[in-house]
Order: sequence, then C-alpha cells, then structure tokens
Amino acid sequence: MRTTRIVEMLEVTEAAALAAGRWMGKGAKNDADQAAVAAMREQLGKLDIDGTIVIGEGERDEAPMLYIGERVGVDGGEPIDIAVDPLEGTNLTAYGQPNSLAVMAFGPKDTLLHAPDTYMMKVATGPLAAGCIHVDASPAENCRCVAKALDRPVEDLVVCILDRDRHEDMIREVRETGARIRLISDGDVFGAVATAIEGTGIHLYMGIGGAPEGVLACAAMKCIGGQFMGRFAFRNDDERRRAEQMSGCDIDGVLDMDCLVNTDEAAFIATGVTDGEMLHGVRYFGKGARTHSVAMDGKTGTVRFIETVYRTGTEKFWVRME
Ligand code: FBP
Repeated sequence: MRTTRIVEMLEVTEAAALAAGRWMGKGAKNDADQAAVAAMREQLGKLDIDGTIVIGEGERDEAPMLYIGERVGVDGGEPIDIAVDPLEGTNLTAYGQPNSLAVMAFGPKDTLLHAPDTYMMKVATGPLAAGCIHVDASPAENCRCVAKALDRPVEDLVVCILDRDRHEDMIREVRETGARIRLISDGDVFGAVATAIEGTGIHLYMGIGGAPEGVLACAAMKCIGGQFMGRFAFRNDDERRRAEQMSGCDIDGVLDMDCLVNTDEAAFIATGVTDGEMLHGVRYFGKGARTHSVAMDGKTGTVRFIETVYRTGTEKFWVRME
C-alpha cells in the first residue's frame, strides 16, 4: 500500500519533470514553471488522496494552481499534507544548468509546516555528521564539526552555498577555514539534500534561501537521517505577519526538524529536470523519454533511485540499461 503511494507520487514528479524538461535552455523560466505546475496538478488530481497543498506556488490570490490550501485528489481519499515545488530552479532549467528538480514531499495531515514565501537561514548535513551543526553557530564552527564527524581535515570538506551578495561574509569565513565551496546560482533543495547522498561531493549546506524550499529539504533529511535546521529571515513586516498566520512554530526561534516536518512518516520525491550530481535530467529519445528520480520514505526507511522509461508510441524498441 505504502509502496503504491510512493510510486503514484513518483509519477507526479515525473510528469512535472517531463513537461518542464522540454523547456530546457529556451530562456523561458515562466513557461517551464507553468508546464511543470500544470502537469503536476493534473497528475495529483487523479489520485485517491484528500490532499492539502501546504507548500505550493503561493497564496490563493497569487497562484491559480497548486496554491497554498488547495485541495487535490478525489473525495474520500487518504488525508495528507503535500509540499510541492514543481520546478525547483526555474532559471537552471531555462539556461540548461545543472540540478533543477521537480520536487514534492508528503506526510500525514497537519504534519508539514505551512511556510510563507519568505527567506530562511538554513544549515544541513548528512547522516554521518547529523547532530553537530547549528543554525546559530558560525560558518567556521559548522565546517569544523562536520569535518571532524567525517574524520577528514577541513580542507577536504565541500560546502554548498547559494551565490548571493548576502552570503559574502559567510563565503569569506568558510574560505578562511580552508574548506572548499560549491557555489550554486539556484536550487538549494539540491544543495541541502546532496549533503546526505554519497557521491555528490557536498558535505555541508548553509545559507539563506526560500523558506518553502527549506521544508522540502527538511522532509528529505528526516527520511534519510540527516540534519536540517532553519531560522526565518524576514525581509519586512508583511512576511512576519504571514508567518504568524500560517506557521505553528515559534517564528523567531530555531526551526528544528520536528517543527518543520512533524512526523517520521514523511516521504520526499524528486525527479531530475536537468543533469546534475544527484540525478540525471530528462532524456527524450524520439520514441519516448527517460526520467531519473529519488524517492525517500521515512515510514519504511527506504531510499530508491528510479529510472523510468516512458514509451510514447506503438513502435517497438529495446530499452537500454543505464
Ligand atoms: P525558483 O525555482 O523559484 O526560481 O527558486 C530557486 C531558488 O534558487 C531556491 O532554490 C532558493 O531557495 C531561492 O530560489 C533563493 O531565492 P533568491 O533567488 O531570492 O536568492
């Protein structure tokens, strides 16, 4: 039953990625986003769930589809909270850059934080260093504790940070420790989740990015035993007011994992749109398309990497192993 649900949800992110991938490199981020949103919503509408979008495309007055509070699925289905980012990294897709993803998380009703569209200071690391980082610790302290937990000199650590002016001091301080930095132009769900996936070459994520993306990344880290911690970074009183209305957490305090994702039964699913260190992007090959996804299930403790071939025509062909 649970596996069926995971596969159904996998088809939701796959549909979004298949739609968005067509826009790779076309310089049209809004079109790419809209394609992903429409595909994701259509797929969610087919499912036997009573789903509430808690993280989506924005509030009802600003987003016609997948707005916060929208109900998706068919009546009488399982009540669940759903967090979506149909296209995480719209610019990455628009300019053919790595690591754009179609992302969703879900959990039992009333377990995922309703995060307003504000900023959040975030730190994340994988299971081997989980427990040692803190959102209020200095960048150098976090680097040193992760290096120690991974039993390596700090020079062998890679920290992922969004390339933004607001991170100038943080980047300087990380460089001073000797750690190396993977600066990304967008896509910090990838940045945070990558810390928990061996082979990505990223060990620690830190910096200020979108709060909704923080909830999605936290769901993944809960499933996989990593650590995530946040703190809202409001830009104005309106954002603070919306957070007061929407979120059940202390909006001025540390946002720990149980506040962001209040269940051990969440699931996180992402499908690659463009190629990256964690997932391949969508490949179209004339007779069909191939997607690559990761599905993490906190309930069963499974992490699946899934290649799916969508056969579009009636023509027969060999399906190639990757
Ligand atoms: P979009 O997919 O909406 O373009 O956002 C991508 C992203 O880079 C997120 O991964 C990140 O959390 C946020 O934008 C950072 O926001 P800003 O670009 O304002 O620094």
